[in-house]
Amino acid sequence: MSIEEKLKEYNVKVNARLGELLSNYDPDYPVITEAMGYSVKNGGKRIRPFMTLLFSELCGADRFDSRALDFACALECVHTYSLIHDDLPCMDNDDLRRGKPTNHKVFGEATATLAGDGLLTYAFEIIADSGATDKAKVSAIKALSELAGYKGMVGGQVMDMIGESKPLDRREYEKMNALKTGALLRCTARLGLSAAGCEDAETYRLCDEYCACVGWAFQIRDDILDVIADQSEFGKPVGSDEKNGKTTVLSYMTLEEAQNLAAQLTNKAKSALEKFGRRAAELCELADFLLHRRK
Ligand code: IPE
Ligand code: IPE
Ligand code: MG
Ligand code: MG
Ligand code: MG
Repeated sequence: MSIEEKLKEYNVKVNARLGELLSNYDPDYPVITEAMGYSVKNGGKRIRPFMTLLFSELCGADRFDSRALDFACALECVHTYSLIHDDLPCMDNDDLRRGKPTNHKVFGEATATLAGDGLLTYAFEIIADSGATDKAKVSAIKALSELAGYKGMVGGQVMDMIGESKPLDRREYEKMNALKTGALLRCTARLGLSAAGCEDAETYRLCDEYCACVGWAFQIRDDILDVIADQSEFGKPVGSDEKNGKTTVLSYMTLEEAQNLAAQLTNKAKSALEKFGRRAAELCELADFLLHRRK
């Protein structure tokens, strides 16, 4: 089975669980539940949940282990919140996401902001309510709060906004990438390994290295697709970065050089998992798949 087919197979489970966790419309909490569900259930590649599940399996968890699945869904809620806020007029001001109008276009800015807030906080409720051990829950909460917060994704988004009005130097750009995208990718290993009860520091270190490299390459590919993608396939506006005057990888190099850099990072990611041999085959295939993705 190709990694793309495998991703589809896992997405059936992930989407089913997300569907249970986010009912379409809760009459006790009108509007907000609809707005939260709209963005979460509106497609998305579900790369982060897939990786979370693969990391749990790397450490001996069963396929689709329910604890890892709940951690994976919590992370997808945080990721979706980051997208809703990223699209707001005060940030990237984009109208299309996952092939549909952005949350604020449908529900208005106030509700979209609150839908993001609702998803962020709900993620922690999902972890707390999961069947994982208390130790795994605390470790997941620590990872998610740290990597999604000001030292992670939020911090990177701040740098991204600063990068609109003043060019970032190469070191600042790399930090921005590592934070705004790398941080949530790194969360996949932390959550997957925690769910599986892994306590081996070396395993955490190697998986973190893989995630940091994949995360960086992932954002490089996203910046490339922002220029070359077919919008109907990409599901979000092409040319958004140029419109906003963003500092991206293409501020420093050509498209070809950027793709080469992403390829180097992908190789580095795969090398980090060498120790695991065949057990890490899917994670390695996934890194290659992401390097050439069209959306
Ligand atoms: C988009 O992430 C934001 C970036 C970090 C580039 P994805 O490309 O994973 O978006 P979805 O979840 O598939 O919509
Ligand atoms: C945003 O990067 C990463 C997030 C933390 C949401 P982009 O602004 O490039 O993401 P897209 O292209 O809108 O998905
Ligand atoms: Mg952005
Ligand atoms: Mg954006
Ligand atoms: Mg982008």
